[in-house]
Amino acid sequence: MSKKIFNIFSSIADVYDVVGHLFSFGIDGLWREMTAREALIEKSSYKILDVATGTGSIAIDIAKKAKKAKKQVEITAVDFNKDMLRLAEEKINKRKINNICIKAEDAMKLDEPDCYYDVVTAGFLLRNVDDTKIFADELKRVLKKTGKFILLGMGKPQNKLLNMFFKVYFILLRLVGSSIDKTAYRWLTYSIMAFDRNKMLNILKDKGFKDLKIKNLPFHIAFIITGIK
Ligand SMILES: C[S@@+](CC[C@H](N)C(=O)[O-])C[C@H]1O[C@@H](n2cnc3c(N)ncnc32)[C@H](O)[C@@H]1O
Repeated sequence: MSKKIFNIFSSIADVYDVVGHLFSFGIDGLWREMTAREALIEKSSYKILDVATGTGSIAIDIAKKAKKAKKQVEITAVDFNKDMLRLAEEKINKRKINNICIKAEDAMKLDEPDCYYDVVTAGFLLRNVDDTKIFADELKRVLKKTGKFILLGMGKPQNKLLNMFFKVYFILLRLVGSSIDKTAYRWLTYSIMAFDRNKMLNILKDKGFKDLKIKNLPFHIAFIITGIK
């Protein structure tokens, strides 16, 4: 477990949702909705694990969409940071959602049974987890045979113009962010620009996942990788 990442999320937990919406001009909500939509599979009753749930937004989006689609889903939402989980619990209780179970767990050593979940989601974990290969192993272990995963991430845009735009925007974001938490917003911008989505795709391919797809989301800074065990 990375102490640095753990501390970053503890120090920004209370402002995480608001600042995330502001810095992304609200588009983060759309990215999470697109992730939640992918989590609606053909089954009418199934189990979902949301890793690095943070303040629970993706788990909540899935619960809402599943209810609308008349699907019975049991969601387990895990994160290693209890400050983030406290906020997730508050949001879930406020919305009176009763099919999300929250647990404190490390994505690299999940306390979940083998071959148990039909769907695993993880939003914005990839550039924060210490070792993506170990996480990919855990993903494979907890998914049922033919289970689906959905990974929402952020990384350097592949389009040169957008890349330049975000380089400039991130200078501004670091300046504004330093008034909230210098380390956190430096890490945010550094980790995004350092993350290579194609390398991640290759790791997943090497681990034997099938039907791998990568979808660039609006503005190309965010992406969704999906695949099947
Ligand atoms: C950028 S936040 C994303 C939260 C949420 N998925 C969302 O969409 O807003 C990243 C989350 O990953 C969690 N995290 C980072 N490394 C982790 C690990 N090894 N195990 C579990 N959670 C981890 C952090 O605590 C944080 O809540």
